[in-house]
Amino acid sequence: MAKTPVIKAINLSKTFKLSKDNEVIALHSVSFEIYSGELICFFGPSGCGKSTLLSMLAGLQPPTSGEVIVRGKNLATLKKKELAEYRRSKIGMVFQQFNLIISMNVLENIALPMAFGGMKRKRRMQRAEHLLEVVDLGDKKKSVPANLSGGQQQRIAIARSLINNPWIIMADEPTGNLDSKSADDVMKLLISLSRKSKRTVILITHNPDYLQYVDRIFRMKDGRVDKIEVNAKTAKVELIDAVSKLDKLKSDKEEASEEDEPIFTSEISKIEAEKKEVMSGKAGKSKEKEEKNNETD
Ligand SMILES: Nc1ncnc2c1ncn2[C@@H]1O[C@H](COP(=O)(O)OP(=O)(O)OP(=O)(O)O)[C@@H](O)[C@H]1O
Ligand SMILES: [Mg+2]
Repeated sequence: MAKTPVIKAINLSKTFKLSKDNEVIALHSVSFEIYSGELICFFGPSGCGKSTLLSMLAGLQPPTSGEVIVRGKNLATLKKKELAEYRRSKIGMVFQQFNLIISMNVLENIALPMAFGGMKRKRRMQRAEHLLEVVDLGDKKKSVPANLSGGQQQRIAIARSLINNPWIIMADEPTGNLDSKSADDVMKLLISLSRKSKRTVILITHNPDYLQYVDRIFRMKDGRVDKIEVNAKTAKVELIDAVSKLDKLKSDKEEASEEDEPIFTSEISKIEAEKKEVMSGKAGKSKEKEEKNNETD
Protein backbone atom coordinates (compact mmCIF):
# COMPACT_ATOMS: atom_id res chain seq x y z
CA MET A 1 0.00 0.00 0.00
CA ALA A 2 1.33 3.38 -0.98
CA LYS A 3 -0.25 5.28 1.86
CA THR A 4 1.12 6.38 5.19
CA PRO A 5 -1.52 6.55 7.89
CA VAL A 6 -0.88 9.36 10.34
CA ILE A 7 -3.85 8.41 12.46
CA LYS A 8 -5.58 5.09 12.68
CA ALA A 9 -8.81 4.74 14.66
CA ILE A 10 -9.65 1.15 15.52
CA ASN A 11 -13.14 0.33 16.80
CA LEU A 12 -13.35 3.57 18.76
CA SER A 13 -16.31 3.76 21.09
CA LYS A 14 -17.26 6.34 23.68
CA THR A 15 -20.02 6.09 26.25
CA PHE A 16 -20.78 8.86 28.72
CA LYS A 17 -22.37 7.61 31.92
CA LEU A 18 -24.72 10.34 33.10
CA SER A 19 -26.12 8.40 36.06
CA LYS A 20 -26.39 4.81 37.19
CA ASP A 21 -28.88 3.84 34.50
CA ASN A 22 -28.55 6.68 32.05
CA GLU A 23 -25.80 6.73 29.46
CA VAL A 24 -25.12 8.33 26.10
CA ILE A 25 -23.29 6.35 23.46
CA ALA A 26 -21.46 9.12 21.59
CA LEU A 27 -19.45 6.79 19.31
CA HIS A 28 -20.10 3.24 18.11
CA SER A 29 -17.00 1.33 17.11
CA VAL A 30 -15.58 3.75 14.56
CA SER A 31 -12.59 2.69 12.42
CA PHE A 32 -10.68 4.59 9.74
CA GLU A 33 -7.27 5.82 8.64
CA ILE A 34 -6.16 9.36 7.88
CA TYR A 35 -3.13 9.71 5.63
CA SER A 36 -0.20 12.06 5.67
CA GLY A 37 -0.96 15.44 4.09
CA GLU A 38 -4.69 14.87 3.79
CA LEU A 39 -7.34 17.49 4.45
CA ILE A 40 -10.35 15.64 5.77
CA CYS A 41 -13.65 16.71 7.25
CA PHE A 42 -15.98 15.15 9.81
CA PHE A 43 -19.42 16.22 8.69
CA GLY A 44 -22.78 15.48 10.25
CA PRO A 45 -25.66 16.79 12.35
CA SER A 46 -25.29 18.27 15.82
CA GLY A 47 -24.72 15.60 18.45
CA CYS A 48 -23.48 12.91 16.01
CA GLY A 49 -20.14 12.66 17.84
CA LYS A 50 -17.76 14.84 15.78
CA SER A 51 -16.18 16.75 18.68
CA THR A 52 -16.01 13.63 20.83
CA LEU A 53 -14.16 11.82 18.06
CA LEU A 54 -11.75 14.70 17.47
CA SER A 55 -10.94 15.04 21.16
CA MET A 56 -10.03 11.35 21.32
CA LEU A 57 -7.75 11.67 18.28
CA ALA A 58 -6.12 14.64 20.02
CA GLY A 59 -5.59 12.61 23.19
CA LEU A 60 -7.81 14.96 25.18
CA GLN A 61 -10.02 12.13 26.41
CA PRO A 62 -9.63 8.36 26.26
CA PRO A 63 -12.05 6.13 24.35
CA THR A 64 -14.26 3.75 26.33
CA SER A 65 -12.91 1.03 24.04
CA GLY A 66 -10.83 0.86 20.88
CA GLU A 67 -7.51 2.40 19.96
CA VAL A 68 -6.05 5.56 18.49
CA ILE A 69 -2.75 4.90 16.73
CA VAL A 70 -0.75 7.97 15.75
CA ARG A 71 2.27 7.38 13.53
CA GLY A 72 2.34 3.79 14.74
CA LYS A 73 2.02 4.61 18.46
CA ASN A 74 -1.02 3.63 20.47
CA LEU A 75 -2.02 6.68 22.53
CA ALA A 76 -3.20 4.39 25.34
CA THR A 77 0.38 3.20 25.88
CA LEU A 78 1.76 6.72 26.41
CA LYS A 79 2.65 7.84 29.91
CA LYS A 80 0.85 10.92 31.23
CA LYS A 81 3.83 13.14 30.43
CA GLU A 82 4.23 11.68 26.92
CA LEU A 83 0.54 12.23 26.21
CA ALA A 84 0.81 15.85 27.36
CA GLU A 85 3.80 16.26 25.05
CA TYR A 86 1.83 14.71 22.17
CA ARG A 87 -1.02 17.18 22.70
CA ARG A 88 1.35 20.11 23.08
CA SER A 89 3.70 19.58 20.20
CA LYS A 90 2.24 17.13 17.69
CA ILE A 91 -1.31 18.48 17.55
CA GLY A 92 -2.36 22.04 16.73
CA MET A 93 -5.90 22.67 17.95
CA VAL A 94 -8.23 25.37 16.69
CA PHE A 95 -11.69 25.84 18.20
CA GLN A 96 -14.82 27.85 17.51
CA GLN A 97 -13.88 30.10 20.44
CA PHE A 98 -10.49 31.60 19.71
CA ASN A 99 -9.27 31.19 23.32
CA LEU A 100 -6.75 34.02 23.05
CA ILE A 101 -5.38 35.62 26.20
CA ILE A 102 -6.75 39.15 26.26
CA SER A 103 -3.92 40.69 28.27
CA MET A 104 -1.25 39.51 25.81
CA ASN A 105 -0.48 40.98 22.41
CA VAL A 106 -0.81 38.78 19.34
CA LEU A 107 2.87 37.80 19.19
CA GLU A 108 2.84 36.70 22.84
CA ASN A 109 -0.37 34.74 22.22
CA ILE A 110 1.12 32.93 19.23
CA ALA A 111 4.35 32.14 21.08
CA LEU A 112 2.66 30.94 24.27
CA PRO A 113 2.54 27.15 23.57
CA MET A 114 6.27 27.27 22.86
CA ALA A 115 6.98 28.72 26.30
CA PHE A 116 6.33 25.31 27.89
CA GLY A 117 8.97 23.71 25.71
CA GLY A 118 11.82 25.72 27.24
CA MET A 119 12.61 27.69 24.06
CA LYS A 120 14.30 31.11 24.64
CA ARG A 121 11.95 34.09 24.45
CA LYS A 122 13.83 35.76 21.57
CA ARG A 123 13.58 32.61 19.42
CA ARG A 124 9.90 32.18 20.32
CA MET A 125 9.13 35.72 19.27
CA GLN A 126 10.99 35.28 15.98
CA ARG A 127 8.95 32.21 15.15
CA ALA A 128 5.73 33.95 16.22
CA GLU A 129 6.58 36.85 13.91
CA HIS A 130 7.13 34.46 11.02
CA LEU A 131 3.77 32.80 11.68
CA LEU A 132 2.06 36.18 11.87
CA GLU A 133 3.25 36.70 8.29
CA VAL A 134 2.00 33.23 7.32
CA VAL A 135 -1.51 34.17 8.46
CA ASP A 136 -1.17 37.50 6.67
CA LEU A 137 -1.34 39.71 9.76
CA GLY A 138 2.25 40.96 9.80
CA ASP A 139 1.08 44.50 10.53
CA LYS A 140 -0.67 43.52 13.79
CA LYS A 141 2.37 42.62 15.89
CA LYS A 142 1.55 44.86 18.81
CA SER A 143 -2.24 44.56 18.70
CA VAL A 144 -4.17 42.93 21.51
CA PRO A 145 -7.02 40.51 20.67
CA ALA A 146 -9.74 43.04 21.60
CA ASN A 147 -8.61 45.29 18.74
CA LEU A 148 -8.94 42.57 16.11
CA SER A 149 -11.94 41.28 14.21
CA GLY A 150 -13.21 37.74 14.84
CA GLY A 151 -11.63 36.51 11.60
CA GLN A 152 -8.28 38.06 12.52
CA GLN A 153 -8.46 36.53 16.01
CA GLN A 154 -9.08 33.12 14.50
CA ARG A 155 -6.11 33.55 12.18
CA ILE A 156 -4.00 34.35 15.26
CA ALA A 157 -5.34 31.15 16.87
CA ILE A 158 -4.30 29.22 13.74
CA ALA A 159 -0.81 30.77 13.90
CA ARG A 160 -0.64 29.71 17.56
CA SER A 161 -1.64 26.16 16.61
CA LEU A 162 1.37 26.05 14.25
CA ILE A 163 3.98 27.29 16.70
CA ASN A 164 5.35 23.86 17.63
CA ASN A 165 5.29 22.66 14.01
CA PRO A 166 2.66 19.98 14.72
CA TRP A 167 2.01 16.87 12.65
CA ILE A 168 -1.71 17.48 12.54
CA ILE A 169 -3.97 20.52 12.72
CA MET A 170 -7.38 19.76 14.22
CA ALA A 171 -10.03 22.44 13.78
CA ASP A 172 -13.44 22.07 15.43
CA GLU A 173 -15.90 24.49 13.82
CA PRO A 174 -13.21 27.13 13.27
CA THR A 175 -15.61 29.32 11.31
CA GLY A 176 -18.61 28.86 13.60
CA ASN A 177 -18.37 32.34 15.16
CA LEU A 178 -17.47 34.24 12.00
CA ASP A 179 -19.27 36.21 9.31
CA SER A 180 -19.11 34.62 5.88
CA LYS A 181 -16.20 36.74 4.54
CA SER A 182 -13.99 36.05 7.61
CA ALA A 183 -15.04 32.40 7.53
CA ASP A 184 -13.86 32.17 3.92
CA ASP A 185 -10.51 33.72 4.83
CA VAL A 186 -10.01 31.25 7.68
CA MET A 187 -10.94 28.32 5.45
CA LYS A 188 -8.60 29.50 2.70
CA LEU A 189 -5.82 29.64 5.26
CA LEU A 190 -6.49 26.09 6.48
CA ILE A 191 -6.67 24.81 2.91
CA SER A 192 -3.41 26.50 2.00
CA LEU A 193 -1.71 25.05 5.10
CA SER A 194 -2.77 21.65 3.93
CA ARG A 195 -1.81 22.18 0.29
CA LYS A 196 1.38 24.22 0.61
CA SER A 197 2.95 22.75 3.72
CA LYS A 198 1.41 19.25 3.18
CA ARG A 199 0.25 19.28 6.75
CA THR A 200 -2.49 16.88 7.77
CA VAL A 201 -5.63 18.86 8.59
CA ILE A 202 -8.75 17.46 10.27
CA LEU A 203 -11.69 19.79 10.05
CA ILE A 204 -15.16 19.84 11.54
CA THR A 205 -17.61 22.16 9.87
CA HIS A 206 -21.34 22.54 9.45
CA ASN A 207 -20.95 24.44 6.21
CA PRO A 208 -21.43 22.18 3.16
CA ASP A 209 -19.85 24.85 0.91
CA TYR A 210 -16.43 23.88 2.24
CA LEU A 211 -16.73 20.18 1.47
CA GLN A 212 -15.57 20.69 -2.11
CA TYR A 213 -12.10 21.64 -0.82
CA VAL A 214 -11.41 18.59 1.33
CA ASP A 215 -9.81 15.35 0.16
CA ARG A 216 -12.27 13.10 1.94
CA ILE A 217 -15.56 13.68 3.72
CA PHE A 218 -16.28 11.43 6.68
CA ARG A 219 -20.06 11.62 6.93
CA MET A 220 -21.18 10.93 10.48
CA LYS A 221 -24.57 9.95 11.85
CA ASP A 222 -25.59 8.78 15.34
CA GLY A 223 -22.05 8.12 16.52
CA ARG A 224 -20.96 6.29 13.38
CA VAL A 225 -18.93 7.13 10.32
CA ASP A 226 -21.69 6.39 7.89
CA LYS A 227 -19.84 6.97 4.65
CA ILE A 228 -16.44 8.15 3.47
CA GLU A 229 -16.51 10.13 0.25
CA VAL A 230 -13.34 10.65 -1.74
CA ASN A 231 -12.70 13.83 -3.65
CA ALA A 232 -10.87 13.17 -6.94
CA LYS A 233 -8.10 15.52 -5.76
CA THR A 234 -7.05 12.87 -3.21
CA ALA A 235 -5.11 11.22 -5.98
CA LYS A 236 -2.45 13.89 -5.49
CA VAL A 237 -1.92 12.77 -1.91
CA GLU A 238 -1.63 9.17 -3.05
CA LEU A 239 0.93 10.16 -5.59
CA ILE A 240 3.08 11.91 -3.00
CA ASP A 241 2.87 8.84 -0.78
CA ALA A 242 3.64 6.45 -3.62
CA VAL A 243 6.73 8.41 -4.59
CA SER A 244 8.11 8.58 -1.05
CA LYS A 245 7.39 4.89 -0.45
CA LEU A 246 9.20 4.03 -3.69
CA ASP A 247 12.27 6.03 -2.69
CA LYS A 248 12.41 4.23 0.63
CA LEU A 249 11.93 0.79 -0.90
CA LYS A 250 14.60 1.40 -3.51
CA SER A 251 17.15 2.40 -0.88
CA ASP A 252 16.12 -0.52 1.37
CA LYS A 253 16.54 -2.87 -1.59
CA GLU A 254 20.12 -1.78 -2.03
CA GLU A 255 20.87 -2.83 1.52
CA ALA A 256 18.79 -6.01 1.43
CA SER A 257 20.33 -9.45 1.34
CA GLU A 258 20.25 -11.36 -1.94
CA GLU A 259 17.58 -13.62 -0.56
CA ASP A 260 15.25 -10.70 0.32
CA GLU A 261 15.78 -8.85 -2.95
CA PRO A 262 12.87 -10.47 -4.85
CA ILE A 263 10.45 -9.29 -2.12
CA PHE A 264 11.58 -5.69 -2.65
CA THR A 265 11.45 -6.06 -6.44
CA SER A 266 7.89 -7.30 -6.31
CA GLU A 267 6.81 -4.59 -3.84
CA ILE A 268 8.45 -1.91 -5.99
CA SER A 269 6.66 -3.05 -9.13
CA LYS A 270 3.34 -3.10 -7.24
CA ILE A 271 3.82 0.49 -6.13
CA GLU A 272 5.03 1.55 -9.59
CA ALA A 273 1.73 0.21 -10.92
CA GLU A 274 -0.23 2.11 -8.27
CA LYS A 275 1.69 5.27 -9.09
CA LYS A 276 0.86 4.84 -12.77
CA GLU A 277 -2.80 4.41 -11.87
CA VAL A 278 -2.78 7.58 -9.76
CA MET A 279 -1.15 9.54 -12.58
CA SER A 280 -3.69 8.28 -15.09
CA GLY A 281 -6.46 9.59 -12.82
CA LYS A 282 -8.05 6.22 -12.12
CA ALA A 283 -7.00 6.04 -8.48
CA GLY A 284 -9.91 8.10 -7.12
CA LYS A 285 -12.30 5.44 -8.34
CA SER A 286 -10.36 2.46 -7.08
CA LYS A 287 -9.83 4.20 -3.77
CA GLU A 288 -13.55 4.87 -3.45
CA LYS A 289 -14.18 1.16 -3.92
CA GLU A 290 -11.62 0.38 -1.27
CA GLU A 291 -13.23 2.88 1.13
CA LYS A 292 -16.59 1.24 0.59
CA ASN A 293 -15.11 -2.08 1.57
CA ASN A 294 -13.50 -0.56 4.63
CA GLU A 295 -16.54 1.31 5.81
CA THR A 296 -17.61 0.74 9.37
CA ASP A 297 -21.08 -0.61 10.01
N1 LIG B 1 -18.82 15.27 28.46
C1 LIG B 1 -19.98 14.75 28.05
N2 LIG B 1 -20.84 14.21 28.94
C2 LIG B 1 -22.00 13.65 28.53
N3 LIG B 1 -22.40 13.58 27.25
C3 LIG B 1 -21.58 14.10 26.32
C4 LIG B 1 -20.34 14.73 26.67
N4 LIG B 1 -19.74 15.14 25.54
C5 LIG B 1 -20.58 14.82 24.52
N5 LIG B 1 -21.68 14.21 25.00
C6 LIG B 1 -22.80 13.68 24.19
O1 LIG B 1 -22.24 12.89 23.14
C7 LIG B 1 -22.94 13.11 21.93
C8 LIG B 1 -21.97 13.62 20.87
O2 LIG B 1 -21.55 14.92 21.23
P1 LIG B 1 -20.51 15.78 20.38
O3 LIG B 1 -20.23 17.02 21.13
O4 LIG B 1 -19.39 14.92 20.02
O5 LIG B 1 -21.39 16.10 19.08
P2 LIG B 1 -21.02 17.01 17.81
O6 LIG B 1 -21.25 16.17 16.61
O7 LIG B 1 -19.70 17.64 18.00
O8 LIG B 1 -22.18 18.11 17.88
P3 LIG B 1 -22.13 19.69 17.47
O9 LIG B 1 -22.19 19.73 15.98
O10 LIG B 1 -23.38 20.24 18.10
O11 LIG B 1 -20.89 20.29 18.03
C9 LIG B 1 -24.07 14.06 22.25
O12 LIG B 1 -25.23 13.32 22.51
C10 LIG B 1 -23.58 14.76 23.50
O13 LIG B 1 -24.66 15.18 24.28
MG1 LIG C 1 -19.05 19.63 18.24
